[in-house]
Amino acid sequence: MKLLQALNGEPVWPPPVWLMRQAGRYLPEYRATRAEAGDFIRLCLNPALATEVTLQPIRKFGFDAAILFSDILILPMALGQGLRFAEGEGPRLPPLETVDILDPAKAPDVYAPVIETVRRLKTELPTETALIGFAGGPATVACYMLDGQGGGDFPRTRRLAYEKPDFVSDVLNILVDATIAYLSAQIEAGADCVMLFESWAGIFPAQQFRDLVIAPNKRITAALKERYPGVKIIGFPRLAGLMLGEYARESGVDAVGLDTVTDIENAVVACPEGTVFQGNLDPLLLKLGGEAMEAATRKLLATVKNRPHIFNLGHGITPDVPEANVVRLMEIIRSA
Ligand code: CP3
Repeated sequence: MKLLQALNGEPVWPPPVWLMRQAGRYLPEYRATRAEAGDFIRLCLNPALATEVTLQPIRKFGFDAAILFSDILILPMALGQGLRFAEGEGPRLPPLETVDILDPAKAPDVYAPVIETVRRLKTELPTETALIGFAGGPATVACYMLDGQGGGDFPRTRRLAYEKPDFVSDVLNILVDATIAYLSAQIEAGADCVMLFESWAGIFPAQQFRDLVIAPNKRITAALKERYPGVKIIGFPRLAGLMLGEYARESGVDAVGLDTVTDIENAVVACPEGTVFQGNLDPLLLKLGGEAMEAATRKLLATVKNRPHIFNLGHGITPDVPEANVVRLMEIIRSA
């Protein structure tokens, strides 16, 4: 598998490629399957349909990796927090007031269908296609649990981190343990590697970034590597800025996902030698296509030549991306 070769530090050319949110609303077959499931959460918890939507972009574009179809918010839901997706508004949870409502013991039963999806994918994917399991990073999941919705500012989470640090740390401790169990189950069901999405890592000041992002990520990677020696873990500390190097050194991840704002040459300097990178084409280019996309893709390819690199976007595909642009992107990468 090309993706695992790259994660092992071997330069692979052309580089392996997959795209964050590659299963999603830009695909008509995804929209049809979601309608069949009823809604997004039912889709995540229906192994047959979740397997189908995971495979759709693999069939269509031949990516080197499939990412399990689910969501980072399935874990807090499994822990007992309500979750709904308001149409066109994104996720909504009742903002967490106490950890007493969370019940880690019952989570595995709730997320069992997701693990079953991993099992099915393992048997249905082409042997050359790697299967990526995932979870949200604890800080990012805590942002949604404490604020109850996205938006990017997470004002309640930010305030609680200063005013009720013990509460925030209780939430993170529960998430760390639950995430270790959840990712372990995915690995045992057949995930070839796993990814931690710390999409909101960049909202925290430096010391909180260390305490709330790096330390919990490290506890997860240490536990997984002790249980599954050799397992590869991709971390995506989005908007980490100058904390990226410390994250790469301390978190225990094998590869670092880069957001769009990070210059790869700067990341190479900031991170330990041999760090594998994933990213970081601007998703807007995939919507725009044309010369802008082609030139940026070629430039990114030239930058990562001779390095172990996983080609990807710097954030997820948006629903307005024309499929033809994805086809063209793949042609450019494959003929590099
Ligand atoms: O294809 C894949 O990448 C795998 C599946 C996946 C989804 N979400 C499906 C999804 C993965 C890995 C995620 C991760 C995720 N979910 C993150 C981290 C990555 C990032 O984008 O920063 C976050 C923050 C979430 C939480 C979440 N889920 C939000 C904020 C939203 C609403 C935004 C939106 O695009 O509607 C979701 C919904 C969601 N997750 C969709 C999909 C395909 C769209 C739901 C739909 O079909 O309407």
